[in-house]
Amino acid sequence: MLEATKLISIEQTQHSRIAELDAKTLVFGKHFSDHMFLTEYEDGKWHNPRIVPFGNLSMSPSISALHYGQAIFEGMKAHKNEKGEVLIFRPLENQRRMNASAHRMCMPAIPEDIFMEGLTQLLRMDSAWVLADEGCSLYIRPFMFAIDEFLGVRTSNTYRFMIITSPAGPYYKDPVKLKVETEFARAFEGGVGYTKAAGNYGVSLYPTKLANEQGYHQIIWTDAREHKYIEEAGMMNVMFVIGDTLVTPALSTQTILPGKTRDSVLTIARDWNMKIEERRITVQEIIDAQKNGSLKEAFGVGTAATVAHISVIGFEGTDYAIPIGDEHSFSKRAAIHLTKIRKGQTEDIHNWTMKI
Ligand code: COI
Repeated sequence: MLEATKLISIEQTQHSRIAELDAKTLVFGKHFSDHMFLTEYEDGKWHNPRIVPFGNLSMSPSISALHYGQAIFEGMKAHKNEKGEVLIFRPLENQRRMNASAHRMCMPAIPEDIFMEGLTQLLRMDSAWVLADEGCSLYIRPFMFAIDEFLGVRTSNTYRFMIITSPAGPYYKDPVKLKVETEFARAFEGGVGYTKAAGNYGVSLYPTKLANEQGYHQIIWTDAREHKYIEEAGMMNVMFVIGDTLVTPALSTQTILPGKTRDSVLTIARDWNMKIEERRITVQEIIDAQKNGSLKEAFGVGTAATVAHISVIGFEGTDYAIPIGDEHSFSKRAAIHLTKIRKGQTEDIHNWTMKI
């Protein structure tokens, strides 16, 4: 780790904007902390890691990320514990997943020391931006994009990796209405659905806009081949409690993002001796379970969304209401437990949090 620490150069802002921040009016993704981390890849190495005041970048309009989409990102959160110390949640999982995305998108890996030192030094400098208010956190966005100035279609030789951070309240304040997508597809076998490639989000915007116009917040994507099996909700993985079993789509098709919150919730469920099934789930099974009353809960899990309760699933023109569980329901208990772990308010038996 010391290699990168020694190398990171730091330019402190002269004008902190922290005083302008109001936790009560926070909108997800709109406010940015004082500093950002950058480093560039060239000739097989990462160069010039630095932290500078948050601000615009100057780039050629020809950089290949803008034209051919070599762009990937990650999302994680930092919280404050009662002593005011900053805790990051499972950051190495993000570094590993970023490198899995990089591999598939033919981009270079970001080494652990650069990722972790850039992240921790940035958070130390901007620790005042980690709001301790109820429901608030600092959303952390590492990302990488191709910067060759070249319009030929080929793998870029140069890249920029950056981390920016954004103080955030809850992504969804209320339970969400989701529409099962049966026309468009987000991902297909052999594609990049399991990565955090920027294009996976771009491709979802038009179908999501149509769903929004019909009154839904988001889409539940189904498999591209038959639109029969449930995959994920684009911004979050989906889970169902059917009878006494927690059921979620398996990752084996490689069309679904291996969510960190998904893994954390499954681990908590295992710790609580809950029955778990990771498998293919047909939309029809969920609709049948709603009709016969065995569908107890439906919820999305993701870094930005945390645990988002699903109140309605729209399928083929019909809205199916899902019960929102009380404080004894699995999703409510898991959400509270996860928040407590993230904020250092309960024992962290899996060593998920890292103090910076
Ligand atoms: C995250 O939860 O970090 C996501 O990827 C959602 C984001 C696109 C807002």
